[in-house]
Amino acid sequence: MKKINVGVIGLGTIGSGVVKALRDKRALIAQRSGVDVHLVMVSDVRRAQGAKLGLPATMFTANPQEIIRNEKIDCVVELIGGHHPAKELILQALRNGKHVVTANKALLAGDIAEILSVAVKSGRQLKFEASVGGGIPIIKALQEGLVANRVDSLFGIINGTSNYLLSKMSQASLSFAEALSLAKKKGYAERRPRFDVEGIDAAHKLVILCYLLFSKLVPLEAVIREGIADISEMDVRYAEEMGLVIKPLAIAKKDHDHLEVRVHATMLPKAHPLAVVNGVFNAILLKGDMVGDMLFYGRGAGQSPTASAVISDIVDLGRGDSLEEGNRHVKAEARVKKIRRADEIQSRYYLRFMAIDKPGILARISGILGKNHIGIAQVSQKERKRAKFVPVVMITHHVLEKNLKRALEHIDRLAIVKGKTIKIRMEGF
Ligand code: HSE
Repeated sequence: MKKINVGVIGLGTIGSGVVKALRDKRALIAQRSGVDVHLVMVSDVRRAQGAKLGLPATMFTANPQEIIRNEKIDCVVELIGGHHPAKELILQALRNGKHVVTANKALLAGDIAEILSVAVKSGRQLKFEASVGGGIPIIKALQEGLVANRVDSLFGIINGTSNYLLSKMSQASLSFAEALSLAKKKGYAERRPRFDVEGIDAAHKLVILCYLLFSKLVPLEAVIREGIADISEMDVRYAEEMGLVIKPLAIAKKDHDHLEVRVHATMLPKAHPLAVVNGVFNAILLKGDMVGDMLFYGRGAGQSPTASAVISDIVDLGRGDSLEEGNRHVKAEARVKKIRRADEIQSRYYLRFMAIDKPGILARISGILGKNHIGIAQVSQKERKRAKFVPVVMITHHVLEKNLKRALEHIDRLAIVKGKTIKIRMEGF
């Protein structure tokens, strides 16, 4: 029987889940994989965490260096998150000859190439299944099961909190603020949920996926990113009336040498495979040149699903058969040359104007759109009695974002419209 000695740094939700699962399932994992996963030591700055999990005092340390320097330990699991001191601990562990397993998406999104190159130089592995999609084995699928495929497009719901918010707005007719307060009550959204609501968390995960798919580390600021806080109940209802749903999508599309990387609310037809992914669930739809469409669905967050992914990485390291392989793409040539700017992308759009209800107003708006080469596929004016400004909804054909931006700058300055036009990109047509 092979054996791997493990040290866990960080006993938060995921770390505690890893400790519990290793205690409860050590025999089952060994039986299935031929690897005995031995938890040697755990560390947390909160001294009570070890005892809370029923661990003997000898297995606990408040000093992570005791894990990194421990000669018995083969694999360090970093679950403290954030940049510092997580990055320093990971690099030190690799240089000390340990394999590293991490769920640290924010760190990897910026520094994965640098950390992998240290892993390569140290002859050790960095594994990060838990950083994207929680319990969904998407990294393993890309690196192993789909290794013979070129994947040129990926559409994902990879942030559970934003998916929960938009699902609740649609299914329970809640406003964004009501859905957010419900999510906080249920413990899904953090007290300051900026990373989820503004698409930053999804952008981190998408950058990691793009690195694997295209061997290109997309700078975070090159991800076209919009939050979901501007989506109103009105838009959710109008989408519904047109047979559409609004989903928080992460999108990567390769077209020749160009790559589009975006995170934003997107309208999808109800028949689209991602349209039925609701609540905190995640899903990733991709197209491989050999396998065609593939859909991965599951829990993208939470203690058990994420711990499940961490343990899968540890077991792989214990098997020893994937050594070096995961690190190879660090040397691969990028499959794309240019990341598209927002101005350069083409999409269909849902537009909602709040306009004065008078004859000639529609002609005025569509005239400006026409002048900017924006073709309109559908228009409807939503009657609201006695209201001075009424919603006017338009669906465009595929348009160049630069043209739309110019048209909307003009329209939003008109006295006949109130506020900023709401624009939501559409996919799946
Ligand atoms: N905040 C993240 C989400 C947690 O809502 O998906 C998992 O990465």
